[in-house]
Amino acid sequence: MRILSGIQPSGRLHVGNYFGMMEPAIRLQNEGEAFYFIADYHSLTTVHDPAELRANVRDVAVDFLACGLDPNKATFFRQSDVPEVTELSWLLSTVTPMGFLKRCHSFKDKTERGMEATHGLFAYPVLMAADILIYDSEVVPVGEDQKQHLEVTRDIALKFNNRYGEVFVIPKSRIRDDKAKVPGLDGQKMSKSYGNTIEIFGEQKPTRKKIMSIVTDSTPVEAPKNPEGSIIVDLYRLVASEDEVATMETDFRAGGTGYGDLKKRLFEALWDHFEPMRQRREELLAAPDYVETVLREGAERASASARPTLERARKACGIR
Ligand code: TYM
Repeated sequence: MRILSGIQPSGRLHVGNYFGMMEPAIRLQNEGEAFYFIADYHSLTTVHDPAELRANVRDVAVDFLACGLDPNKATFFRQSDVPEVTELSWLLSTVTPMGFLKRCHSFKDKTERGMEATHGLFAYPVLMAADILIYDSEVVPVGEDQKQHLEVTRDIALKFNNRYGEVFVIPKSRIRDDKAKVPGLDGQKMSKSYGNTIEIFGEQKPTRKKIMSIVTDSTPVEAPKNPEGSIIVDLYRLVASEDEVATMETDFRAGGTGYGDLKKRLFEALWDHFEPMRQRREELLAAPDYVETVLREGAERASASARPTLERARKACGIR
């Protein structure tokens, strides 16, 4: 089974990235041939400072490895180290109806929030389709917000296959039932662009401060509180055992525990959850050459897989 997923180096990785994609991807590296990459071409739609982009790529590499991506099991690489993907993206764009892209809510969402409506932002899902199809991917673990992009990928692959013959494997998304839409500090989906993130490897003090700023109602300490739909409980569920979650829910309902104390409990649980990874990260930060070697070797393996697919696609449509 070929498994593939990507992550943008558009800032520090957050708890939503971790539970929506990284954790399942790390688990899947034991079940098939996994390809994971840092989507730096995609990030050019939002990151315009070259030094910042390079630093982000390095940070994502370190953080993903620290979280448990094993380069002996998974091929880990920079998207731009396999530039063949941009050529495939063009071939795919010639079969992609505008309607597919006009429907995509990520473009609408970003431009409505003031981002410039560039062609890159609009064509983003075509490059993503190329990422997936060039590696003959079968399973793509992603968070809920990428579901539509995966549907577009399947539709583009079917269009191409219908026109030129069976060139591409039709991939399937793998979206977990419970943790595919992690809420941020304000209850909206956790996202860098909403400014509501909890970073996986943030410093202790600012992380505590962020968690203490989670939006709650003004129920007083003594009064019973509703755990249903509480951001505190929803985040706690990501890292606590069933018993711990049940205790927190009981404390909500009983009254007598303030939101401040409940948030402290959430902070402790989150902090402890990532502690072993934090230690591994320190080691990786001290070994930049190792990280670079991992990405370079990953790129070689990824290129070897991408080239034949691109060749197949070129040949199918008459480009020699
Ligand atoms: P990106 O970089 O925005 O996010 C990386 C992964 O994290 C997931 N995610 C979340 N999951 C649950 N709750 C959240 N709040 C949350 N926020 C983010 C995302 O769903 C994603 O799986 N377009 C992709 C990158 C990409 C890609 C690909 C992915 C480029 N090419 C090919 C798969 C296959 C993106 O922007 O993800």
